[in-house]
Amino acid sequence: MDRTALFTSRFTEHDVAYDPPPADPLHVGAVRVLEANWTGTSTVPSRGLYPHQWSWDSAFIAIGLRHLSPLRAQTELETLLTAQWADGRIPHIVFNPSVPLDAYFPSPDFWRSSTAGRAAGAPRTVQTSGIVQPPVHALAAWLVHQADPGLSRARGFLTRIYPRLAAWHRYLLHRRDLGGAGLASVVHPWEQGMDNSPCWDAPLARVTPAPARSFRRADLDHGAPEDRPTDTDYGRYVRLATEYRDGGYNDGDGAQFAVEDPAFNALLIASEHALARIAAELGATGTARHARAERLTRVLRERLWDPAAGMFLCRDVRGGGLIPERSVSGLVPLLLPDLPRETVAALVRTAYGPHFGLGGATRLAPSYDLLGEEFDPHRYWRGPAWFNTSWLLERGLRTHGELDRADALRRAFLDIAQTSRFAEYVDPFTGEACGATGFGWTAALTLDLLHTRPGDQVSTAGSRTFEMSDKGGDDA
Ligand code: SER
Repeated sequence: MDRTALFTSRFTEHDVAYDPPPADPLHVGAVRVLEANWTGTSTVPSRGLYPHQWSWDSAFIAIGLRHLSPLRAQTELETLLTAQWADGRIPHIVFNPSVPLDAYFPSPDFWRSSTAGRAAGAPRTVQTSGIVQPPVHALAAWLVHQADPGLSRARGFLTRIYPRLAAWHRYLLHRRDLGGAGLASVVHPWEQGMDNSPCWDAPLARVTPAPARSFRRADLDHGAPEDRPTDTDYGRYVRLATEYRDGGYNDGDGAQFAVEDPAFNALLIASEHALARIAAELGATGTARHARAERLTRVLRERLWDPAAGMFLCRDVRGGGLIPERSVSGLVPLLLPDLPRETVAALVRTAYGPHFGLGGATRLAPSYDLLGEEFDPHRYWRGPAWFNTSWLLERGLRTHGELDRADALRRAFLDIAQTSRFAEYVDPFTGEACGATGFGWTAALTLDLLHTRPGDQVSTAGSRTFEMSDKGGDDA
């Protein structure tokens, strides 16, 4: 298919006018991936390995899709939100009923959302998982709105999704405050999204793995075993998910695994700032939400900052104390506009120092400490570089005026996305593709960075910027 046909026939025919950018094979390739992964109402991360809709994938995908079709980007988020539970949670997977049960594990008959999740308010007509993923959604919704405010207003996009996003944040800030300090806890490694990060090794060691014969992994049908979590990891994932399900997906004190994670909470805070802006667009003030985001930024520093490491660490809520492992998760709070200057400087030093090697040994941020004992350049979240975390760091650098570094990271992202054929993740030293290729968020975030002008500073979503456009009213 030629490039013009690709842009005009599929993405713009029924959507909004789109000016094709100059002929750029990377742009064409990214569009092709999003085209291939689009189901009609949402986008799969990968046709083989992940054939359903994933929560944080969809948020990142919407951020890129907005440059091609703001309507499709809105639809991506709306589809996800139709699967929201009455208690406010947005499930991490929304299952496509036309995909065979054995194509992905754990399948709907494992989660049994509409029965086991009934008391928690799982939807009756769509099958979902019962756990969550990082809250990138309000940030994505705000960026999608900004891509075409006229279309967004005409469709009532923000008016319809605001109450759902507010309920989602309420769920995380209240039901998931298992540590009692105000931060949200994750109760499963799949919730934080970095499934087999060495950060979970200590809290997971307390979990007895489910017997290997009690389940069949489908991921190994599509991915190389050395790129994926181990069978013992899976045994523990299955044990934790089974116990959560059998407890009716109730968020009491029962969870064996409860961790406060810096990236999960930083994304919640960034999304809270975005929700404040959405409230303002809808005629309220947003002031209370900005104030909450600023307060949570302070709590994040009090609870998770480690001065000796020069970065944020995870807190094991059940075991007590910070987990002494350096994960890229602990650099993601760079995204936050209200960080003190010295915290920003320390995070940048750490990212560009020996543990993450940016600008030296690595061009994209490794998921885990290059000097850590558990470092493995190919095994999922134990070392490989992922594109979503580098996108978040690029945005963080741009937020804090580190423009040369942001431009270099953007360039590296685009080069490696191209040479790896939009890989799921890559060897952080060589850029060699690992996991799936044609991965949804890699393609989508490539588009977003192609539309980011080098040298531009991202306007912060913080309260100072916001107050200039404050319209007055209430943001409840
Ligand atoms: N990342 C998980 C998987 O590998 C699930 O969210 O299937």
